[in-house]
Amino acid sequence: KTIFRKDYTAPAYLVDTVELGFDLDPDRTVVANRITMRQNPASRGRDIVLHGEEIELVALRMNGKPLAPTEYHQDGGMLIIRKAPVKVVLEIETLCAPVQNTSLSGLYVSNGNFFTQCEAEGFRRITYFPDRPDVMAKYTVMLRADKAAYPVLLSNGNLIEEGDLGDGRHYAKWEDPFKKPSYLFALVAARLVCQEEKYTLKSGREVLLQVWVEEGNLDKTDYAMQSLKNSIRWDEQRFGLELDLDRFMIVAVGDFNMGAMENKGLNIFNTKFVLANPRVATDVDYAGIEAVVGHEYFHNWTGNRVTCRDWFQLSLKEGLTVFRDQEFSADMIGTDSGRAVTRIDQVRTLRQAQFPEDAGPMAHPVRPDSFVEINNFYTVTVYEKGAEVVRMYQTLVGRDGFRKGMDLYFKRHDGQAVECDDFRAAMADANGRDLRQFERWYSQAGTPIVTARTRYDAVKRNFDIILSQRAPASSSASAGQADKLPFHIPVAVGLLSASGKDLPLTLEGGKHAKGATTVVLELTEQEQIFRFRHVDERPTPSILRDFSAPVILEYDYTDDELLHLFSHDSDPVNRWEAGQRLAMERLLKLTAQVALADGSDAGLKLDATFINAQRAVLTDETLDPAFRELALILPSEIIIAEQMDVVDPQAIHVARQFMRRTIGAALKTELLAQYYANQTPGDYSPDALSAGKRALKNLCLSYLMVAPDMAELKLAQQQFEKAGNMTDRSAALVSMIHSGAEAGPYLKAFYQDFENEALVIDKWFAMQAAAPTTNVAAVRKLMQHPAFTLKNPNRARSLIFSFISANPSQFHAADGSAYEFWAEFVIKLDAINPQVAARLARGMDRWRRYAPALQAKMKRALEKVAGRAKLSNDVLEVVTKALAD
Ligand code: ARG
Ligand code: ZN
Repeated sequence: KTIFRKDYTAPAYLVDTVELGFDLDPDRTVVANRITMRQNPASRGRDIVLHGEEIELVALRMNGKPLAPTEYHQDGGMLIIRKAPVKVVLEIETLCAPVQNTSLSGLYVSNGNFFTQCEAEGFRRITYFPDRPDVMAKYTVMLRADKAAYPVLLSNGNLIEEGDLGDGRHYAKWEDPFKKPSYLFALVAARLVCQEEKYTLKSGREVLLQVWVEEGNLDKTDYAMQSLKNSIRWDEQRFGLELDLDRFMIVAVGDFNMGAMENKGLNIFNTKFVLANPRVATDVDYAGIEAVVGHEYFHNWTGNRVTCRDWFQLSLKEGLTVFRDQEFSADMIGTDSGRAVTRIDQVRTLRQAQFPEDAGPMAHPVRPDSFVEINNFYTVTVYEKGAEVVRMYQTLVGRDGFRKGMDLYFKRHDGQAVECDDFRAAMADANGRDLRQFERWYSQAGTPIVTARTRYDAVKRNFDIILSQRAPASSSASAGQADKLPFHIPVAVGLLSASGKDLPLTLEGGKHAKGATTVVLELTEQEQIFRFRHVDERPTPSILRDFSAPVILEYDYTDDELLHLFSHDSDPVNRWEAGQRLAMERLLKLTAQVALADGSDAGLKLDATFINAQRAVLTDETLDPAFRELALILPSEIIIAEQMDVVDPQAIHVARQFMRRTIGAALKTELLAQYYANQTPGDYSPDALSAGKRALKNLCLSYLMVAPDMAELKLAQQQFEKAGNMTDRSAALVSMIHSGAEAGPYLKAFYQDFENEALVIDKWFAMQAAAPTTNVAAVRKLMQHPAFTLKNPNRARSLIFSFISANPSQFHAADGSAYEFWAEFVIKLDAINPQVAARLARGMDRWRRYAPALQAKMKRALEKVAGRAKLSNDVLEVVTKALAD
């Protein structure tokens, strides 16, 4: 059943207070729920509509009187009481079985402990309730459980009472002083320990911060705690937003569907985004922890204090909060070049995942118009493209203007459940700007294509940039759009002189600062001409600086222009981008040659110009190591595939490997020199400079290891053995696995060392699954390993998802065997955990783009899944849309 945004109606009843009582038992938990409700003056409805799923109704009383089954209707997950009185107290008693709950939505058991996940619609799996985000209420929660098994009892807000119940059980009573929607409810009943700290806010108020983990993990909580304190300080400084509770808790759980959840005062996290020490976590893990701790903390204002009216507005909180966590991570590095490195990472994510989504069967606007299953819309479009949309406001109105817009947003909407339009209105009104056309970023799916042409008039000294835009029609059912109207696109531009310097700009009709070297062109029409005056020489344009809009830019750069930008552009993002364009041109040509030669790389050539440009960047010590690393990574196989009309995954792989091998051989001396120059001796620190050095050093190693000689193999082995941290250790191991050299003993040693570290064992599975030498048979063999299980999402993802999304040449093996594997495990996972299964199902999104022989096999696999009798809504929506594409 499809749900439409246009069908929104206000709730007939509002809830003032909720009192919940839990008698926690893994097999049989009793939930008593007392709700005070009143008719919503803004609605003409008179029916109370409650949601409930997978729970057993034991008793139902209205205003003190038991309701007979004839006095209410139960229908498709809803319980409806018709023509109810104006004021109502409902008392509802239900039963559930947390230990049976493998979907990890609602109340569930993980490693013997109780946790909840209520977003988006998990609260209805705990009790009957109007489970929609525009119903906000104050909650009081009483938890009762066995004291020995569950010594820690947590819920939202403040602990107001605790004690023993005498019979080996104990209780804790929690009260959340803020109104909240049901999706922000949480409880934890567990055997856990915490790192805690008193922290003084800027205002002088003291708060208690806690990070809760299983006993053996107390040596891995420092970085999460530090990140939490940094987040609190940053939100005070950058946005004037203060923590509104006296207590803020982070709890880590090993079984979790997503990254983390922003429950009021009680954030619940996937262990992956909490636990770190140098022995077990990589630089990437550390950065992930900082970002996710920040993200969930920032939700306290953007999401919790101001929430979403309905789930179509999800990007209101997610796009904005991703933008905030991106800015936080960038500010934590603090340098312009460090900030640029985070920006380049964001562009890579968009191209790797969001652009393909926007062009595929699940394409949807940032604010979708319809969905079957909301859990399928926690997407890179809603999150990352949503963050780009928020970033564009800042680009259009400036940093100060953006802050003014945020202030007005909170002034108007604190305590409310609102729409994306309300955020846009706050930005417009606070800055006196007309942002009506900007709405199309929310309503139209698909990645716009911006085409640039230029002309230079040497006599008049004018340089014109002609920009035009088009948006390809989205065929997909979720997008539901054929004709698209022009977007409001900020295009940041600079002009480089022949010597590589930024020219001071004079934009005709523009109102930019005198002497500015970057100006933002606002493209609002289908085509527009922008004229720069007083331009003394034909410049090289640097267009879409800092990736100022989530678009595809087409411009006929010559190789010389790209080389010029690659060595001189003052905008690091475009400097990197020039390198990517140079590489992409070559990769596409080489791929075509490999395809013509039936998969052989014999006779392929890579020009010296390109190699020299790579050498120059590699050895340019004025550049950040982190930037050099990014500039040397070739576009991924997935990104290359997106550029082709008919994707040939094998040819792409062979061509890209040829290029890597050739660069590795040609730059051997320099790679080795940089390998040694970027060592990080001494105590491990995850700071950006050290992490950048390790990234560059390990990239050098990976190039040297494409076709290693004895000395290079030895280098990798030594790094593996001597590494003082997981970043260097795992990079060495990955380089060995990918080189095709015998890595068995090292894999074994790694496993033995980290047998008891679940997150490291995930890495162990993932690095093998992603190796181009690992075929589907090898993956199946790994699945027989005693440490493998489908029930733990991290573990399932580490092997199955890594294979399907990070190993395209094996996933697309000509015999279609990996597609059968995909179908088999989508079906198996669906019976356990629909949300995880639906993510895996997305692996077939782009099936239409492959050669007919592969397409036919992919279609058969999709049909096999779609034809199953018992399929979740989650998976059904994904495969149905894929087949309809
Ligand atoms: N709001 C959470 C976050 O972004 C994600 C929750 C997703 N949950 C889900 N069932 N899809 O931080
Ligand atoms: Zn979020």
